[in-house]
Amino acid sequence: MIPHSIIEDLKYRSEICDVISSYVALKRAGNNMNGLCPFHSERTPSFTVFPATQSFYCFGCGAGGDVISFIMRTENLDYRAALELLAKRAGITLPDDDVREEGGVSRKRILEMNVCAARFFRNRLYDERTGAVARAYIEQRQLPPAIVRRFGLGYAPDSFHDLCDHLRRSGYTDEEMTTGFLCGTGKNGRLYDIFRGRLIIPIIDVTGNIVAFGGRLIGEGKESPDGRKPPKYLNSSDTPAFKKMRNLFALNFAKAKCEERLILCEGYMDVIQLHAAGFENAVATLGTAITPEHARIIKKYASDVVLAYDSDSAGQNATSKALRILSDAGVDAKVIRMDGAKDPDEYIKKFGAKKFASLLGESRSRFEYDLENVCKQYNLDNPEEKIKAAEVLCGKIASVYSSVERDVYISRAAKAFSLDPASIKNDVDRIIKRRQKAAKAARPGELYRAGMGISDRVNPDFSRVPKASRFEETILGLIMLRREYIRRAVDGKPVCGEDMPTGLGQRLLAAILAGEENGGFGFESLNETFTQDEVSRAEKMRVDRMKLSDNGPEVFDETLRALREENEKNRNKDDGDFLYFIRKKRGDLSPDAINHSENNT
Ligand code: UTP
Ligand code: MN
Repeated sequence: MIPHSIIEDLKYRSEICDVISSYVALKRAGNNMNGLCPFHSERTPSFTVFPATQSFYCFGCGAGGDVISFIMRTENLDYRAALELLAKRAGITLPDDDVREEGGVSRKRILEMNVCAARFFRNRLYDERTGAVARAYIEQRQLPPAIVRRFGLGYAPDSFHDLCDHLRRSGYTDEEMTTGFLCGTGKNGRLYDIFRGRLIIPIIDVTGNIVAFGGRLIGEGKESPDGRKPPKYLNSSDTPAFKKMRNLFALNFAKAKCEERLILCEGYMDVIQLHAAGFENAVATLGTAITPEHARIIKKYASDVVLAYDSDSAGQNATSKALRILSDAGVDAKVIRMDGAKDPDEYIKKFGAKKFASLLGESRSRFEYDLENVCKQYNLDNPEEKIKAAEVLCGKIASVYSSVERDVYISRAAKAFSLDPASIKNDVDRIIKRRQKAAKAARPGELYRAGMGISDRVNPDFSRVPKASRFEETILGLIMLRREYIRRAVDGKPVCGEDMPTGLGQRLLAAILAGEENGGFGFESLNETFTQDEVSRAEKMRVDRMKLSDNGPEVFDETLRALREENEKNRNKDDGDFLYFIRKKRGDLSPDAINHSENNT
């Protein structure tokens, strides 16, 4: 752990306006500064920096926190790495990095162990006898030796103890091996190697650390005792050194090459093959679908993306999802059309790099992709199907935010369906109105949103007890603004965990109380254990109170009393009635309609 005093000193030397100015053009606005938010795309500034509290908050997307949160978000770094960056900038050195995390194993140890394991795997690959199978496999997949070296590929022999023994000899403990996801513990309590009989692909982050491994089965693989086949690819789970949702495979190479464009694939092998063919801007997610977090990372490195997912139906479904996630994040995404091959790996081998380059040039926008799919799905010569097809497409056009863009698509759709653009426009407008109405109907009750399955991702409990949750936010906001409220007794009792109706509220209050005990609460302590979305929510609570002039003790007392009363009511409420209300309302709207309309109002 880094002592509180050092972090305080670091924050003192990292004036928030100074730091943020090197990322965002800030303009003075009264006591504060504002600029265009780096976390979502916007044309008028809603990103605000508060020098007085040394914090920031975006009124558009809700991102917020202190200078450390800002660095964590923009640079996509974890807490420790963000501190390092700020320390370097301020010209101070932090005490030795031996932060022990989950399971008592430090990130630093795991990274060292991964280097040791990667060397071991590589040596096995080039070992004349042991590595022969793997080298034959590499040859069969036509991977050139230079690429095999560049990606640091290796071989995990088909043995249960090779790696464990090696790591133990190199001084790593059982706990380190299991926490780092290299070994598992068997029924007999003994360690065994997780990667066996696999081609090993080290996962390297943008700073050059080996954070995890992927393993491709060579051959069929042995069935497990219960008759299950081993998975074709095995990926490290999350460890203190690795978060799947935050990493893109080969971004360490691609980041230097992708001034404007990244190629996003589904598989490791696609990426490796593309790099071998000279497309060094190819990356892939790691055994998961693309997440908004990935989209944000992509946006940091490239302004547009070409999706080159598999051409099977799973790949096409994934493509639709990825298009939506990317466009929500403000990334311009296009789709490649690969005929005659199932994935980029196969395509390159069959048709060559030149042909693939021309596919990139012909890649289609989200709308063109939708249009083509609709035309494929419906028989446009049949009037009934044509109406359906037009309806589906109008629904997609209605989700486009910009009206200029909508008009372009409307005329394209009209042409494709040989229909009058005016009537298509009518339909689109009608859908937009309907969605807006649905959104309005839904907005007053968070209760209603909960029933629709549209919950508050950051604080899932909010919608269950919205009224109490709002009081809770007020109380927490007030405490963060004025520390003395922590000890203020209302009706004989200061605020305590029991008063907090949501899980997030309880954890925040606990962190604040703990912070006070350790020499004063600050956001820096939140950054270590809360997600960035949760930190943003906390900042929102503080900002909401800051905007009001009346934050005196009477407000605190009254709110805490009201909160306690509301909690009492909720405890006595019959949950059955609540569910009935939800079900009754659910009938007339689909969650999808609300999701869409939210983007449109
Ligand atoms: P694919 O099955 O399309 O693999 O899975 P691929 O890239 O074509 O592999 P080869 O050519 O048969 O070797 C695509 C991606 O999905 C994840 C991996 O990240 C893989 O690269 N995946 C697949 C898994 O995580 N586990 C699996 O069992 C299969
Ligand atoms: Mn493949």
